Amino acid sequence: MKRMYMVFLRGISINVFGRIGASLVTSTLIIFLILELSRFLGALTNAYLGLLTYLIFPTLFVLGLLLILFGWHRHAKLTGKSLKTILTERFNEEDIIAGSLGSRLVKTVGLLTLINLVILAGVSGRALHFMDSASFCGTACHSVMNPEWTTYRQSPHARVRCVECHVGEGAGALIDAKLNGAWQIISLSFNLYERPIPTPVHNLRPARETCEKCHWPRMFLGNRIRSIIHYDCDRASSPSYTTLMMKIGSGEEGLERGSHWHVSERNEVRYASIDDMRERMIWVDVRQSDGSFKRYHNRRLQNYSHDRTENVHIVDCVDCHNRATHIYESPEHAVDERIRKGLIDRSLIFIKDRSLGALLNNYPDQEIAMKSIDTHIRNYYRKNYPELLSTEAGQIDTAIAVVQDIYRRNIHHRMNITWGSYPDHLGHRNNRGCFRCHNPNLIDDAGNSISMDCTLCHSILAINEDDPFKYLFDIPSDSLTGSSHEIHRYLQEEFEEVIKK
Ligand code: HEC
Ligand code: HEC
Ligand code: HEC
Ligand code: HEC
Ligand code: HEC
Repeated sequence: MKRMYMVFLRGISINVFGRIGASLVTSTLIIFLILELSRFLGALTNAYLGLLTYLIFPTLFVLGLLLILFGWHRHAKLTGKSLKTILTERFNEEDIIAGSLGSRLVKTVGLLTLINLVILAGVSGRALHFMDSASFCGTACHSVMNPEWTTYRQSPHARVRCVECHVGEGAGALIDAKLNGAWQIISLSFNLYERPIPTPVHNLRPARETCEKCHWPRMFLGNRIRSIIHYDCDRASSPSYTTLMMKIGSGEEGLERGSHWHVSERNEVRYASIDDMRERMIWVDVRQSDGSFKRYHNRRLQNYSHDRTENVHIVDCVDCHNRATHIYESPEHAVDERIRKGLIDRSLIFIKDRSLGALLNNYPDQEIAMKSIDTHIRNYYRKNYPELLSTEAGQIDTAIAVVQDIYRRNIHHRMNITWGSYPDHLGHRNNRGCFRCHNPNLIDDAGNSISMDCTLCHSILAINEDDPFKYLFDIPSDSLTGSSHEIHRYLQEEFEEVIKK
C-alpha cells in the first residue's frame, strides 16, 4: 500500500501545477492539524488565527486539489496524449488493471477523495461554528466592531450570541449572512464601510422572531418601578430622585394595557418615516378591531406623500429597544450610575461636576483622552484643595480610573462614535424616543393626536425630589395593585439602601 502512495504522489505531480498542488494540500493539512490541536488544548484563542485556520487554510487546501486536477488537464492538452497513455506512463501496469472491486489506482483515488471530503466537511462545520461565536463577530475586525463588542459585553445580553439576533434561522438566512459577511470582509479590506456603522440595521433578524424566544408579550404585565437618581453638580453632589412606575402591560387577555400594547398579538401599529430612518414619522397606522387601519397624519410633514406604501415598517421590539444590547450612555447618566454604585466616592468635593467636566471635553484620541482626564481632575484638586491630594489620594485615583473607563466604553474615535451618536428610542429625555409618535402633530381625521399624557406610559412618583416617593399617594389608587400602604412599605424597604446613599 505504501508503495502505491509513493507511486501515486509521483503520478499526480505530473508538472509544476501538480507539484505545487500536492505540496499545498499536504502542508495546509499539517498546519491546520497543528493549529486545531493547539486550539483544542486551549493554547489558541485569537480570532485572527481563527480566521486563518478556518478561512485561509481550507481555501488553500481546495486550491491545492484544484491545481492537481488542472495540472493533469494541462498535461493532457499540451502532450495531446489520451488519458490511458498518460496513466500507463505514470503508473505500473498492475496498478491500472481492474480487479474485482476496481483497480488499485481507482481504490486509492476513491479512498483519498473520501478522506478529503471528510476533512472538508469537518473543517467547514468547525468554521461555521467558529464564525457564529460572539468572540469572532466581536473581535475579528477589531477596530470596527470594538464599540459593539464593548457595549455588548456589559449588556444584559452578553450571553446571547450575536448571530441569534443578527442572523435568522434556516439555510436562506445563513447564506444571506455569509454573503453579507463576505461583503463585510471586502469592505473592511478596502475601507469602504461607514463610520459610525449606520442604523437602523435593515437586515436585523425580525425582532419578533428573535426576542420573543426569550421574552414574549403575554409575559408583559403590571408595573415596574424605575428609580433614577440624579446627582447635582454642587459641592456635595447632592442626590435627587425620580421614580416612575412603568406600565408595561400588553393588554392581552384582560391584562393591563401599557407599552407592550403595540406588540400584543392582537394589535398592529405601522408607520412610514422620512428616508426610512424611523426618526420622523410621516404617518402612523393603528389596526382597528374590524381589520381596517386608522391613520394619524403628521401635519408638520405635508410635503411628503402620505399615501406611500414603500418602506412601511410594522412596530416591533427594536422600535423602542433599539439599544437593548449596544447600550451607550449619556455622560450625565454614566457618572450618576457610577456614583450610585459607589464606584465614584460622592464625599469627594465637586466630584460629579469635575467628572462630567473631564468627560465633556473634546479629545483627539483615546490616549490623549486618558491623560487629559487624569490631569483635568487632578489639577482641579491640586489648585483648589491641595490637601485632598494626599488625604483622599485613593478616592481621587479611583474616580479618575472610573471616569477613564466611562470614556473608553462610550467614545470610539476610530469609528467616529461620540456622545449621542446612537440615539436610544426608549423614553424621551435625551432623544425623542416615544415622542416620535406620541406628539401633538400626529393627528387622525377627527383631529385627535396620539396621546402624550404624562401618565399614559408611567405614573410619576417623584421627579427630581428629595423623597423618592413624594407623589405616591397622589396617584389614582386603581393604578396601584394592592394597598398603597403595603406598596409604600415595600418600596421603602426595597430602596432603603439607595436612599441612604
Ligand atoms: C439581543 C440581541 C443582539 C445581540 C446578541 C447582538 N446585537 Fe447587534 N444589534 C442589535 C440591535 C437591536 C441593534 C440595533 C438595530 C437598529 O437600531 O436598527 C444592533 C445593532 C448592531 C450593529 C450596528 C451598529 C449599532 O450599534 O446600531 C452592529 C455592527 C452590531 N449590532 C453587531 C453585533 C455584534 C458584533 C454582536 C456580538 C458581539 C451583536 N451585535 C450582538 C441586537 C443584538
Ligand atoms: C437568548 C435569550 C434572549 C434573547 C434572544 C433576547 N433576550 Fe432580552 N434578555 C434576556 C435575559 C437573560 C435578560 C436579563 C434578564 C434580567 O436581567 O433580569 C434580558 C433582558 C432584557 C431587557 C431588560 C434589560 C434591563 O435593563 O433590565 C430588555 C429590554 C430586553 N432583554 C430586550 C430584548 C430584545 C429587544 C431582544 C431582541 C432584539 C432580546 N431581548 C432578545 C434574554 C434574551
Ligand atoms: C412601544 C415601545 C415598546 C415596544 C414596541 C416594546 N417594548 Fe419592551 N419595554 C418598553 C418600555 C417602556 C419598558 C419599560 C422600561 C423601563 O422599565 O424603564 C419595556 C420593558 C421591557 C422589558 C423588561 C421587562 C421587565 O420585566 O422589567 C423587556 C424584557 C422588554 N421590554 C422586551 C420587549 C420585547 C421582547 C418586545 C417585542 C416583542 C418589546 N419589549 C417591545 C417599551 C416597548
Ligand atoms: C411608531 C409610533 C409609536 C411609537 C414609536 C410609540 N408609540 Fe405608543 N402608541 C402608538 C399609537 C399609534 C398608539 C395608539 C393610539 C390610539 O389609541 O389610537 C400608542 C399607544 C400607546 C399606549 C397606550 C396603549 C393603550 O391603548 O392602552 C402606551 C402606553 C404607549 N403607546 C407607550 C409607548 C411608549 C412607552 C413608547 C416609547 C418607548 C411608545 N409608545 C412609542 C404609536 C407609537
Ligand atoms: C409614550 C409614553 C410616555 C409618555 C407619554 C411620557 N413618558 Fe416619560 N418616560 C417614558 C419612558 C419609556 C421613559 C424611560 C424610562 C427608562 O429610562 O427606562 C420615561 C422617562 C421619564 C422620566 C425620567 C427621565 C430621566 O432619565 O430622568 C421623566 C422625568 C418623565 N418620563 C416624565 C414625563 C412627563 C413629565 C411626561 C408628560 C409630558 C411624560 N414623561 C410622558 C414614556 C413616556
